[in-house]
Order: sequence, then C-alpha cells, then structure tokens
Amino acid sequence: MKRIISPSLLSANFGNLQADCEMINASEAAWLHIDVMDGVFVPNISFGFPILEALTKHCQKMLDVHIMIVHPEKYVKRFAQAGAGMLTFHCEAAENPQEVIDLIRAEGIQVGISINPDIPVSMLEPYVDKVDMVLLMSVFAGYGGQKFIEETYERVAELKEIMKRKNANCMIEIDGGVNMQNAAKLFDAGVNVLVAGSAVFNSANPTETIHNMLNV
Ligand code: DX5
Ligand code: ZN
Repeated sequence: MKRIISPSLLSANFGNLQADCEMINASEAAWLHIDVMDGVFVPNISFGFPILEALTKHCQKMLDVHIMIVHPEKYVKRFAQAGAGMLTFHCEAAENPQEVIDLIRAEGIQVGISINPDIPVSMLEPYVDKVDMVLLMSVFAGYGGQKFIEETYERVAELKEIMKRKNANCMIEIDGGVNMQNAAKLFDAGVNVLVAGSAVFNSANPTETIHNMLNV
C-alpha cells in the first residue's frame, strides 16, 4: 500500500491557518489530519465545525478527521457535511461501534476506528473487515507533542495478525510522537499512514520534513 503522511493541524499556527493550508497543498502530504476534542473523552478541547468548514475552502488535500469525543454517532452527519473525507472515531467512546461505522458509511465517506494505547487491540477484531482504516494511538489522545510509546510496534503486529485472520486489508494509521527517528521503523512494520504534528509544523522546513518522512 502507498505511504501517506497526514500532518496534524493541532500543531499549526492558528493565527494563520490559511498559510499552513497552502503549505500542505504545496507539499507531498496526501491528507490533512484534524483533531477534534470534546473535553469529555479527552481532557483537552480543540476546535469544531467552523474551523473544519473554513479549512474545506482552502485545503485541497483529504481531510482526515479524528474525533476524540463521546457520542460520536450524534455528529457523523455534521462532520461529513463539514468536509471530512475520512472520519475516525474511538471504539472505546462508542456504545455501539457498528452503528457508528454504518452511519459514516451512509454518508459516503471513509470510515476509521481508533483506540488509545491502554485498550486491547483485540477489541477491534469485530470491525477490522468493516472499516477503511484502523488508527492505533501511539500516545494517549489529548495533546500534541507527547513522547511515542514504544509498545506500539507490538500492537501493530497484533493488529496485522487479526487482519490476516479476518482477511481484512484496511489501512493502518499511527498517531502521536511520530518523527524522523521512528518513521522508517513504522513503515517497515506495515503502517500505511503516519500522522505528524509537532515533527512537521515545528520543523524549520515543514514541506521538506514531509518529503523526508515519506522517503525514509
Ligand atoms: C493527539 C492527536 C494527535 C496529535 C499528534 O491526541 O490525536 O493527532 O496532534 O501530535 P504529535 O505528532 O505532535 O504527537
Ligand atoms: Zn489525531
């Protein structure tokens, strides 16, 4: 599968999001990762629909929307209408994950399912053949700039085992603490999509960092 870099907007300059969108448009990033936090499922609050709608106007890349919210089923339609191309919800935040998957499918956009580092990968078993992507968090959801959790590699291997057993071929995305030091090992482990916030936006040349990360 093709390698994808999805820079996380959480580390962008909120005083001038248009400029950062233009940087992403000109870069080799295929997606833009959008973190929506509700202050309930995670301790932090980020942003919501107005920002997403504004981004849709400027960003030419697919919006890879990661919702860290309780009751994801309530907001699927609005995220789809706001321009999400991929909508990833947390399995542990949903009372009925299959219902959320069906609601996202009904909107005609791609479906992602995610879990935090303390949730057993086996929890995803019923869903790996029903989604387009599994997002394994490599930090606890809530903040950018955290340290990558090394056990993630074992979790990727476990996920690949489950996928093989279920004959599933969804994409695997890793989010949290991804940088130039661990990108190659993650791609080698079978990860398709790397989310990178601080590693991209805090670098001297974000476009070049995206290029380098794709070609590690
Ligand atoms: C954390 C978010 C991440 C975050 C990653 O809850 O899901 O997408 O922006 O930031 P870095 O790459 O700085 O760890
Ligand atoms: Zn994220």
